[in-house]
Amino acid sequence: MPARMNRRWLIAKVFDGAVTEANFQWTESPVPELADGQFLVRNRWLSVDPTQVLALRSSDSAPGPGPVGEPMWCLTVSEVLESRHPGFSPGNIVHGQMNWEDYTVTDGSGFNPAFRLPDDVPLRWGAGVLGLSGIVAYFGLHEVAQGRAGETILISGAAGGVGSILSQLAKLEGLRVIGIAGSPAKTAWLLGEAGIDAVIDYHREDVGERLTELCPEGIDIYFDNHHGPLLEVALARLRNRGRVVLCGLSSQYAATRSTPGPSNLIQLIMVNGRMEGFLGRDFLPRRAEAYNVLLPLLRSGRLKVKEEVAVGLREAPRALARLLAGENVGKQLVRMDGEPAP
Ligand SMILES: NC(=O)c1ccc[n+]([C@@H]2O[C@H](COP(=O)([O-])OP(=O)(O)OC[C@H]3O[C@@H](n4cnc5c(N)ncnc54)[C@H](OP(=O)(O)O)[C@@H]3O)[C@@H](O)[C@H]2O)c1
Repeated sequence: MPARMNRRWLIAKVFDGAVTEANFQWTESPVPELADGQFLVRNRWLSVDPTQVLALRSSDSAPGPGPVGEPMWCLTVSEVLESRHPGFSPGNIVHGQMNWEDYTVTDGSGFNPAFRLPDDVPLRWGAGVLGLSGIVAYFGLHEVAQGRAGETILISGAAGGVGSILSQLAKLEGLRVIGIAGSPAKTAWLLGEAGIDAVIDYHREDVGERLTELCPEGIDIYFDNHHGPLLEVALARLRNRGRVVLCGLSSQYAATRSTPGPSNLIQLIMVNGRMEGFLGRDFLPRRAEAYNVLLPLLRSGRLKVKEEVAVGLREAPRALARLLAGENVGKQLVRMDGEPAP
């Protein structure tokens, strides 16, 4: 039988200020034979994440040739085709770290443990609202921010993969939700479909002035997907016992110079405040708790899923570039070739 061929994107050029297709090289090679403890998956949906740009950055401190020639990693929803691993069987649907390629041979490290999607939901949700994005939104709001009805939450990246879920969830749970987003299309979606209270377009408006107008008494929670100057603006408006949740640094991953830290951390002292980072993947073993809340909301249509879908592995670099340009509204996905359209 002829060997199964694998189409893949390898890293061809380290990050030098922009991500384009030229950072990657398209290759085709036979899928290797499985060794004991390994299994073969077909990647069906790719999650596009801002942290992927870090794969392209060379580290001065890391030994070796750097990332050039390495496969480009990504999170996926995939199907097991063949297995020599006792924990995985053909037909299993898995969620974890794979590569930009049709097939991946893996030993299962970096996987979302015991991932299982209910039968009645689309597979792609496993790469978004029921994958890491939804877990981050759910546990970020409940465990880290400890948001309560009646409080005011300010969310940067409010219309992105994480933000689009978090904004709606917070609103559904009775918080007053102010989103920060970077385009009129994002503002329209957040105010219309998502139904949150207000949006500040940080490219077109003065965030500080708008906050003073919208929340003269300050904010209880700042959920930071951005880092950068917005953190300082939010800190200055934190109310007593306010919380800052450090979720991500979207403004920094593709930056050529890092932004200095906030100069007003004293605000945290003055308001008895708390600033806390968290890793969503640490909550994956508890995903059933999140599903108990998210699934009824999704099935009833009260929580809306906003996605942008690029079609085919060839489009993966362009999908990442779109995300890094802030053009995605909702979760950016890649539907692999041969996968049925939603
Ligand atoms: N803590 C965790 O475990 C965890 C897990 C997953 C994701 N995250 C973090 O959560 C955040 C959101 O992730 P996501 O997957 O939902 O991504 P996303 O928000 O869908 O996409 C990235 C967004 O970042 C915003 N952005 C901010 N500054 C930017 C800049 N200088 N250049 C380009 N874009 C910029 C853009 O939206 P706007 O311009 O509209 O803001 C862009 O659409 C990220 O920071 C990510 O690293 C954290």
